[in-house]
Amino acid sequence: MLSVRGLSKDFITPGGTISVLQQVDFSAERGEFLAIVGESGSGKSTLLQIVGTVESPDAGEVLLDGLSLFSLTSREQARLRNQKLGFVYQAHHLIPELTALENVMLPLQIRGDMTVQEIHQRAEALLGTLNLGQRLHHVPGKLSGGEAQRVAVARAMVGRPALLLADEPTGNLDESTAKRVFDTMLNLCREMDTAVVMVTHSRALALASDRVLQLHDGRISTKVRNYSASIENIP
Ligand SMILES: Nc1ncnc2c1ncn2[C@@H]1O[C@H](COP(=O)(O)OP(=O)(O)O)[C@@H](O)[C@H]1O
Ligand SMILES: [Mg+2]
Repeated sequence: MLSVRGLSKDFITPGGTISVLQQVDFSAERGEFLAIVGESGSGKSTLLQIVGTVESPDAGEVLLDGLSLFSLTSREQARLRNQKLGFVYQAHHLIPELTALENVMLPLQIRGDMTVQEIHQRAEALLGTLNLGQRLHHVPGKLSGGEAQRVAVARAMVGRPALLLADEPTGNLDESTAKRVFDTMLNLCREMDTAVVMVTHSRALALASDRVLQLHDGRISTKVRNYSASIENIP
């Protein structure tokens, strides 16, 4: 359902041109959980942002269910992000004036095909699963880094997206909370047939994913192992 073909991206800086991505190809099926690993600066965030249409590539294309995302107008891209994509940013990007619950409800309110009660119920249940039942009415400034990160995960998942992109979603979390977040994402992946692409520095979580892609010098250098993801595989 996701097909990334020949993606290239350069950044022009005062120090010269940096080729961050060079002819990157990969694909993901519905219900598949992919991990992307690579050193800091290897282009992981840039890759995720292009797949999520937040950035544009210099060359190549991203197809979602056969639809070429960079042939869409920016208005169509915004609609597609709201209807089909979930994105967890490396910095959580929550809206500071809204409570945790309101932040999570917002994407579905924008989508506009459920009642407020239904949206409230779904958002509250998801926050409960992520162990945030006692933090519903906190604004982001009153949450710990790990709590804010989990609210951002809930916001990305609440719309049951076809594709969930997560940039180090467990970066600020202790080991047991990281497992809980991973498990919640894996359940969404399996139950809703969502394709998940997760950037992670956690070797344990990478090894518990269906497939691991390694980004090195702007290229996907190895496709490490390939089997069924499970929380049981976390050492
Ligand atoms: N907007 C930008 N302008 C210039 N350079 C950038 C920009 N965004 C990222 N880079 C550079 O591109 C490289 C890859 O960045 P990034 O995708 O954030 O890597 P990662 O997420 O793997 O740490 C880094 O060297 C970074 O400094
Ligand atoms: Mg990054």
